[in-house]
Amino acid sequence: MITNYNKEFTDYLLDIYGQVEFTPTHGVGARLYDDNNRMVIDFMAGIAVNALGYSHPVLIEALTKQANKIWHCSNIMVNQPAVELAKLLVTNSCCHKAFFCNSGTEANEAALKLARRYGLKSAGSNKKTIVSFNNSFHGRTLFAVSVGGQHKYSEDFAPLPAGIEHGIFNDLSSADELINENTAAVIVEPIQAEGGVIPATVEFLQHLRKLCDKYNAILIFDEVQTGIGRTGKLFAYQHYQVEPDIITLAKALGGGFPIGAILVKDKFAHGFDIGSHGTTFGGNPLACSVGLATVQIINQPKFLNDVNVKAQKFTEYLQQLNDEFKLYQEIRGRGLLIGAELNQAHQNKAKQLMVNGFKYGVASLIASPNVSRFTPPLVIKDEDIELGFTRFRLALQEFSKS
Ligand SMILES: Cc1ncc(COP(=O)(O)O)c(C=O)c1O
Repeated sequence: MITNYNKEFTDYLLDIYGQVEFTPTHGVGARLYDDNNRMVIDFMAGIAVNALGYSHPVLIEALTKQANKIWHCSNIMVNQPAVELAKLLVTNSCCHKAFFCNSGTEANEAALKLARRYGLKSAGSNKKTIVSFNNSFHGRTLFAVSVGGQHKYSEDFAPLPAGIEHGIFNDLSSADELINENTAAVIVEPIQAEGGVIPATVEFLQHLRKLCDKYNAILIFDEVQTGIGRTGKLFAYQHYQVEPDIITLAKALGGGFPIGAILVKDKFAHGFDIGSHGTTFGGNPLACSVGLATVQIINQPKFLNDVNVKAQKFTEYLQQLNDEFKLYQEIRGRGLLIGAELNQAHQNKAKQLMVNGFKYGVASLIASPNVSRFTPPLVIKDEDIELGFTRFRLALQEFSKS
């Protein structure tokens, strides 16, 4: 039996990911297994996606029940699971309308297109600038890499879409310089996730809110990674006393089934009207049924409180290991989106540490070359946090001797 498909992968698929040597075939909770019954503790949840872990019985039931009814009907027809999921999301957020798509990138694309069109219709063709921030990540389409604040993702793909400006994250005066009457939208991650797990300050987001109000620009919070319980609240904006005009979502929304969404305030909802945007698969009944079950489970006070309790435990373990090995200069984040930044002596080695982790049976992530990132399933059990860190300790030990 083949248990390592790395060679076959690169024979038949584009080689763009540089996978670790592990081919999971099944999973339960926060444990992943391959066909040899090798078990890996999951501190990454499919890149902040599998919020309810693997094989959650309620999600399996939601998926299989819907699979026996209808998989796809197109957006020419009304689909009931989409309506129910939209209702659940808008009644639990500051927004009023939803649009479903298939990924975080598509959610941002839709939000940015809506903002450009709203600007055009409300104020004419000069109101088109998108303001974003250095180091941000908003996805991989040409518009999304151009809006994202990491040059490495866009530099090989010119010509890029025009009318996009980048400010300095968490810098109020930089926002003052860029945002004006020609700004259609400001897009920001409440916590820059891929860029290094860097939380926005309260002052920064409140300042963006003020500037967007002043110039009638749309404030978009990219909550693709922070949304749906990851930070210990349903949405990260709820930590900040700032309401965005559009929230973009994906990742945890489907509990592992592909789905993206934008939530929009009434005031801006007519930025799109019939025919101005669309998707074939977006919001299909299978995705929305699983999404509905996922959000129903996560959006409970006890569930969200448990995320915070687990996050505290998780950070304590990490801190203890750092007291022993002194590799990290800062541990930060919110809820179960946690980053640990390597100190000066170990710059650019986060990937090596991640690979070491896999070797010892724990899956984690990186966020920039210097930051280890941890996004475990929100349902991870205490014993799995402990076992994961017992394993991660061995990875750190080997790393510190290298
Ligand atoms: C904040 C943020 N926005 C957008 C995206 C893109 O989402 P997707 O990969 O689903 O297109 C990501 C993915 O990591 C993300 O973290």
